Amino acid sequence: MISGRVWRSIDDFSDADVEWVMARAELHRTGLAPPLVSQPLVGLCFLEASLRTRLGFAAAAGRIGGRHIDVVRRRESEISRPESIHDTLRTVMGYCDVVVARLGEPLAGPNLPSERPAPLVNGGDRGPDGEHPTQALLDLFALSHDLGDLAGRTVAICGDPRMRAVTSLLRLLPRFGVELIVLLTLPELERGWRRPAGADGIVRRASWSDLPRETAVLYMAGVPHGAVSLEDRGALTLTADRLAALPRELVVTSPLPVIDEISPEARADPRVRAFHHSDLGLFTRMAVLELALLGGPTGG
Ligand code: CP
Repeated sequence: MISGRVWRSIDDFSDADVEWVMARAELHRTGLAPPLVSQPLVGLCFLEASLRTRLGFAAAAGRIGGRHIDVVRRRESEISRPESIHDTLRTVMGYCDVVVARLGEPLAGPNLPSERPAPLVNGGDRGPDGEHPTQALLDLFALSHDLGDLAGRTVAICGDPRMRAVTSLLRLLPRFGVELIVLLTLPELERGWRRPAGADGIVRRASWSDLPRETAVLYMAGVPHGAVSLEDRGALTLTADRLAALPRELVVTSPLPVIDEISPEARADPRVRAFHHSDLGLFTRMAVLELALLGGPTGG
C-alpha cells in the first residue's frame, strides 16, 4: 500500500520540519532560494470557504514553478448523493504530487484515505481536534520576521481559544520558547476547551487592563459569528482607545479575515501588521509545499 506523509496537526511538523520551513521561507523572501522541485502539480481540495489558504497555496504552487488544480465541491447530481469525502480526496491524491485540503470535517478517521499516493497537508480542518497548522507556521515566520527570536516573549491571544488557528498556535509557540501566553477571552468561549498539553503551564487569563507590559504580540483571533452576544463581542474588540494604552513596540496581528475584532480606527495603527503578515505567508506556503514534496527536510 502506498502511504504519503500527512501533516494534519502542527505536531506532525517536527522541530526540524519547522526550522527547515522557516529557513526556506526566508530564502524565498530574499529571492535566494535555489529550485528544489520540478514543476509540481498541487491539488487544492477546498470543500469549505477559504481565500488566503487556497489562493496562497495556488500562488505558492506557481511561484515554485508548478501548477495547481482545484476541487471545490464533491461530485453530486440531482439523482445521486455526493461522493464521500474519502473518495473525493483519494481521487485528487492520485492525480497530484501533493494535496492541500480543507474538508469542512476532520482530516482524520473515515475521511482520511489509508492508501495515499501523495503527501497531504491540512489547510484547516474541523472537529474537536481541528487545527490550522500552516497558519501557525506563517504566524511564526511573520512574527519572527518582525521580532527576531520569540524565546522568552509574551504573546497575548484575543478571541475564541477553540479556533483551529489558535489550537495550532498554542501548540507551536511553546516549542519555540515563548514564555507566557495570555488569553483575552470570555468564560462561554472556554466551554469545552482543552488546553493543548504543551501550553498548559504557560497560559493564563488576563483582561485589557492587566495585559503584561512586556507583551510583544497581540494576536486577534476573532470570535465565530453567533458564538457570543454583540455586547460580548465588543469586550473582545481592539478599539483605538484600547490600542492607545498598549506598548508602542507591540506587534498586532490576525490570521484574517478581520470582521469586527479590530475597529477601523485601530486598523490604521502601524502596529497592526495583519496584511504584511499575510503577504509573508506566501513564502511560508512555498516552503511547506517543498517540504511535503521532498518528504521532509532530509528528503523523507
Ligand atoms: N487565515 C485563513 O485561514 O484564511 P482563509 O480562511 O481565507 O483561508
